Amino acid sequence: MLSAPSKSPGPEELAFLQQRVARFGLFSAALSAFFWVYRLGRVLVTDDPVHAVGDPSLGLHALAWIFLLGIWAANRSGTRSYRFINAVEGIGLEGACISYIVMGTYIPLIARPEMVMLSAITAVLVGRAAYVPGTARRTFVLSVAVGVPFVWTTYLAYSDIDPDLLASVGAAITPEQMALGATLNAAAWWTLNSALATGITQIIYGLRREVRDVKKLGQYVLEEKLGEGGMGVVYKAHHGMLRRPTAIKLLKSGVSNQTAVERFAREVRLTARLTHTNTVTIYDYGRTPDGLFYYAMELLDGATLDEVVAVGGPQPPGRAVKVLTEVASALTEAHGIGLIHRDIKPANIILAFKGGVPDVAKVVDFGLVKDIARDEGAGLTHDNTITGTPHYMAPEAITTPDQVDGRSDVYALGAVGYFLLTGTHVFSGDTLIEVCGHHLHTEPEAPSERLGAPIPSDLEALLLDCLAKDPGHRPESAADLVTRLEGLSSAGTWSHEDASSWWQSFGPALDRRRGAPMAVGSAHTIEVGRRPTPEFG
Ligand SMILES: Nc1ncnc2c1ncn2[C@@H]1O[C@H](COP(=O)(O)OP(=O)(O)O)[C@@H](O)[C@H]1O
Ligand SMILES: [Mg+2]
Repeated sequence: MLSAPSKSPGPEELAFLQQRVARFGLFSAALSAFFWVYRLGRVLVTDDPVHAVGDPSLGLHALAWIFLLGIWAANRSGTRSYRFINAVEGIGLEGACISYIVMGTYIPLIARPEMVMLSAITAVLVGRAAYVPGTARRTFVLSVAVGVPFVWTTYLAYSDIDPDLLASVGAAITPEQMALGATLNAAAWWTLNSALATGITQIIYGLRREVRDVKKLGQYVLEEKLGEGGMGVVYKAHHGMLRRPTAIKLLKSGVSNQTAVERFAREVRLTARLTHTNTVTIYDYGRTPDGLFYYAMELLDGATLDEVVAVGGPQPPGRAVKVLTEVASALTEAHGIGLIHRDIKPANIILAFKGGVPDVAKVVDFGLVKDIARDEGAGLTHDNTITGTPHYMAPEAITTPDQVDGRSDVYALGAVGYFLLTGTHVFSGDTLIEVCGHHLHTEPEAPSERLGAPIPSDLEALLLDCLAKDPGHRPESAADLVTRLEGLSSAGTWSHEDASSWWQSFGPALDRRRGAPMAVGSAHTIEVGRRPTPEFG
């Protein structure tokens, strides 16, 4: 009857509940006792015939506050179970209210006993709703448990009223009519009060949930989720004091093994060395007391290339060239200090609004970065494993992953350009092996053929160069790629206005997509376990 909510809360919540229930017991008992002392005082100092020391209503009033005090006594210390707390609260509250109701039966009808009962039990119920965290359902059940005896007692109190008494005060109604009227009145009041108490619980419960749902990481308060890859989850966040819009990347809970943690730490350390405007800026890095790793970076307000193509389809050459140029310049800096990204793909490039400028390409996710200058992290990035995304993986990243250099990123970027222009991956296949096989042996179809529409031939030729099987046949570096991109006929043809109007048309569709699962075209980074070393060669 006292309806214990089924799910038991965690230890912190439970301790809080116990503390609140105990305090409610103490406060309500104190207020009730205060009232009782006042009544006792009146009995002792006046010779009011209605109030006598032997009046049972005084005893019942005392019983009510003893019940309430019991709630406090049982919960004031120690650690109580959820069932115990709920049971004691239910019994104490019900006991106190029944005492008040029975007390009412000793009050002369002329003093409107049902209104006295109503005031007392309303104070208890509404006070509890405001004070004790819980579900609206429990508050409702408690209200009904108190309301039924209240209404019934009211009926009984009025139904045996003396008809002569009614006649003597000139009331032209029968005792039955009187009882019915008083009962309906009591029921109406109680319905109103139950609704009030239930509403209060619901509001307070909702507020508490909201507060609890705000996750905190060190100085940062997490807001909504922005994205998720194979390694991490990225949230929008703000710093407690700086108010700087921030994104927080957390290691996914499933991948918190030692290697992943070290790799994550490397990712921050190495990314933090990069200062190019087209590389995401890292702010800081930390670990929560419960061992969660995270780093804070600039918030990129925009969309990944995956998302851009998912809502807008194949992109115009001018835009593709602009994006490729910016990413290639970011890579130029990285390669210059010996860092190979190794996971260039549409999901790791964000077109962001920066300083009011739309379409600023930003490279994120240096999770697989390899420091070839110091050969750092050789163990961490498993140089004997295939690392990257199959759709964007250079042939040498498949066959000799320990020998990749900047030109593997150039290949991946060529594949990104292909994706931007055609809306499709260079190679597709049902299995990983099939896709890898194509990278190794199949010549890519010309982007214009795939698209079924013309694409500037110089751009097409450059992309196919980037996609050459032999790294020696690709642009020799990211810097070289930048130069060649800048010389293309379509370079500089995507204006600020073009970008602004694109975002105006597709921004709403992107917003709607948020929270939806990744696009069909999205490619997930894989890491295939250590390949057996070939026996010959
Ligand atoms: N700084 C950022 N601002 C906004 N969104 C971001 C930011 N960094 C990453 N994201 C989003 O989160 C996704 C996952 O981040 P990423 O670093 O690529 O994680 P993973 O290593 O798991 O692939 C990205 O594809 C992008 O949608
Ligand atoms: Mg990623």
